[in-house]
Amino acid sequence: MELVESIEALRAQLGSARVSGRRIALVPTMGALHQGHLSLIRRAGADGSLVVVSVFVNPTQFNDPADLAKYPRRTEQDARDAAAAGAELVFTPTAAQMYPDGFNTSIRVGGVSERWEGASRGASHFDGVALVVTKLLGIAGPDTAWFGAKDAQQLAVIRRVSADLNLPVQIRAAETVRDDAGLALSSRNALLAEQDRGAALSLGASLRAAADAVRVGERDAAALTARALDTLTDAGARPEYWAVVDPVSFEPLERVEAGTPALAIVAAYAGAVRLIDNLRLA
Ligand code: PAJ
Repeated sequence: MELVESIEALRAQLGSARVSGRRIALVPTMGALHQGHLSLIRRAGADGSLVVVSVFVNPTQFNDPADLAKYPRRTEQDARDAAAAGAELVFTPTAAQMYPDGFNTSIRVGGVSERWEGASRGASHFDGVALVVTKLLGIAGPDTAWFGAKDAQQLAVIRRVSADLNLPVQIRAAETVRDDAGLALSSRNALLAEQDRGAALSLGASLRAAADAVRVGERDAAALTARALDTLTDAGARPEYWAVVDPVSFEPLERVEAGTPALAIVAAYAGAVRLIDNLRLA
């Protein structure tokens, strides 16, 4: 495994890999890698592709400078973990390389970026994600780029950008990795107080209960939502949203119909920690 800090060095390495016939897979991350990230790396390399993991805490997707400042940074351990999962290159650009003086381009993603996480984290959040992912794709020129289904709206935004800008890459998704109790892995889980674990587990529980209800014939999104909100509040979580949406547009759906894709999404606080999760219903 090699740590690569400069854009030029990465391009040189990938250029020679490409000449020797290797496919290239990119796994963009902000570091502090956990088993969710590592599963993406393993999936990305499963077909023999050369896996590049980027570790870059992207300032343009943070709307709170304090959040950006306290984001965990531990590049050396990340590099070891990424290598153990099969990454051959770990790309760690500086913010000055990614956004040099004079940088003046933005990407505005309409529609899918606006509700839910977009509304909660500020309209520019997904624009910042779209910008950095487009830049990373431009830098690495991978055949495939891998994202977690855990961040379903982010994945939908990236698919939108990739299609709209005709980016020559296959966007691939990997399943959400959960702990034994069903909690979706997230770097924020480390901040959970012991007494808030029940509240945290209620996100996944509310989604699984909805999927069970759909299996026995419930079709009405409002009924599913009402039951889910009860599950969350009964467990002490403070829901921000729970909804059934179209997994491409993220527009709300009123009914869950067989053959029409439907995704249940949730954001809720467990104590001071804001968590998100999602599950396909149809
Ligand atoms: P980050 O939060 O580091 O996540 C990197 C990738 O890991 C994302 O695609 C995310 O969906 C995936 N991931 C996180 N938790 C997961 C889990 N439990 N199971 C499966 N995959 C999981 O998301 C970002 O960084 C940034 O916004 C980024 C796309 C890198 C742009 O800066």
